Amino acid sequence: MCGIVGYIGPKEAMPILLKGLHRLEYRGYDSAGVALINQQGTLNLYKCKGKVSELEHFLTGKDGSGNIGIAHTRWATHGVPNDVNAHPHYSASEQIALIHNGIIENYSLLKEALIEHGYTFRSSTDSEVLVNLIEYIRTTNGCTLIEAVQQALKQVVGAYAIAIIERNNPDRIIAARQSSPMVIGIGGEGEFFLSSDAASIIEYTEDFVYVGDGEIAILDRHAPLRIVNHDNHEGRIDIRKLQLSIAQLEKGGYPHFMLKEIFEQPKTLVDCIRGRIHPETFEVKLSGVIDHRERFLSARRIIFVACGTSWHASLIGEHLIETLCRIPVEVEYASEFRYRNPILSPDDIVIAVSQSGETADTLAAVELARKAGAFVFGICNVVGSSIARATDSGAYIHVGPEIGVASTKAFTGQVTVMTMLALAIGREKGVLDASLYRTLSQGLSTLPEQLEQLLSEVAPRVEELAKIFTYAHNFIYMGRGVNYPTALEGALKLKEISYIHAEGYPAAEMKHGPIALIDAEMPTVVIATPDHTYEKTASNIEEIKARGGKIVAVVAQGDSLVRHSADYVVEVPVVHELLMPIVVSLPLQLLAYHIAVNKGRNVDQPRNLAKSVTVE
Ligand code: M6R
Repeated sequence: MCGIVGYIGPKEAMPILLKGLHRLEYRGYDSAGVALINQQGTLNLYKCKGKVSELEHFLTGKDGSGNIGIAHTRWATHGVPNDVNAHPHYSASEQIALIHNGIIENYSLLKEALIEHGYTFRSSTDSEVLVNLIEYIRTTNGCTLIEAVQQALKQVVGAYAIAIIERNNPDRIIAARQSSPMVIGIGGEGEFFLSSDAASIIEYTEDFVYVGDGEIAILDRHAPLRIVNHDNHEGRIDIRKLQLSIAQLEKGGYPHFMLKEIFEQPKTLVDCIRGRIHPETFEVKLSGVIDHRERFLSARRIIFVACGTSWHASLIGEHLIETLCRIPVEVEYASEFRYRNPILSPDDIVIAVSQSGETADTLAAVELARKAGAFVFGICNVVGSSIARATDSGAYIHVGPEIGVASTKAFTGQVTVMTMLALAIGREKGVLDASLYRTLSQGLSTLPEQLEQLLSEVAPRVEELAKIFTYAHNFIYMGRGVNYPTALEGALKLKEISYIHAEGYPAAEMKHGPIALIDAEMPTVVIATPDHTYEKTASNIEEIKARGGKIVAVVAQGDSLVRHSADYVVEVPVVHELLMPIVVSLPLQLLAYHIAVNKGRNVDQPRNLAKSVTVE
């Protein structure tokens, strides 16, 4: 959470910083701020509560000149979202300005020590403690800024991506990282960009250096990029090429990124399977599996670690792998896994699933699994992200940048990769029936067309349904088997963007408690597509009807049973039951979207949330 951006070079920094902040706003939007050093050597710092657009308004008439600057968009951790707690933070003497993404865990101890040395604090943030610690070391030891940063960071426990500028040092930005993402873009001579996410600065360069944990980067307009560690040992500069189309970062005529991303899914599925499913033979090839064939064949157990939507996708992955590969699977919340001393062995495969590739808990779970000797496979979207780099092998989902905070195309991309993974492993292990293999791989290949058709048919219907349910206070989502996680995901979509309370349940669990909630005010969305539990789900629907509940059923075309008991029906194409979660998710995403729009919610930037959760 929090987005940081920096610029040093020949151009005016402000437009670059503001554009970067807009692109990083998905990481947090509680407050925004910039600090720049102008030609006269003045360090100007402007910040305010609210979104980047509010900062832009606030900047009107102010001196925003300078060709070195840092900027921040905040997701509050320590200290309420207000002007004072906004970043950048000045040091006490206002000589140094700092931006920070992460959490300094031992900040109160450091703060107490600084207070004893006469420091006072304006904000309640952990970040202001760090900038003052740097200043304290710099002034008391009489050392350089870089030495002060090195010494300060040795005392810090926690996660950070920081960037610092100093009034008397207008030719340098010092940046450092531990666990929070940071990338440096190399521009023309003496020109560097810095960001939490390469996509935010992609129009200026294709050359990126990912700063590693424990590394400090020195961006100096008169020298090549340098990376050192806390003991001043030089690090290697590994420049990677990254190409991304700017159009992918724009709304492209849609009112919200979320809607654009929902409608992109037919195409993102094509991108996801391209080169992985042969268009004629329907053979599935995943290089991450081919390169580590023996590890997959000898796997005793597979453990998924993930959070949020990626965790829901992993629950679907569990069904896919257990069914198609006959390997036992566990699915863990990364945040729980990392703190409960899990039993791991070298013949376990841990699969880390993360759209952003930066989720702090998932990254920590990866590190723990690797230390325990497990083989770690990543399923990420963001190319070059921390999790993608920390894993032994992996498969990108290739769905392009997902900007809406609510995950949509990443979910279907993750499930698609998991399906291909299960097909590839099951085939290699020889446990997967050839006709089922073919049905599923061919089914995946034809899914994009079916999704295209589905969207055109179902979108107007769901928009109408959303009008009926906009003012419901609670929702239940029900599904069974592989569609139980789909129900969980549908409920999460609704709650995170509309702020309506929604719960997902395995349909048969209703009788064990939740059915007490059913009355005429409680809509239930039921996934009732054909599989071996279909009739049972139909009975569960009757039980809800008998208690006066309203039913919205997602059924397959041609359904003749459930349509008679449901109050409202949404039809999806008939596909194999293991592919159904991908198909069913689209109307559920649209339902959440339209209800949220009807309620006037900020769909792309829902309250209290951030796209990339880089703090635990
Ligand atoms: O980037 P990740 O996939 O690791 O993110 C995990 C969750 O934070 C994320 O899926 C979150 O639940 C989404 N907002 C859901 O739409």
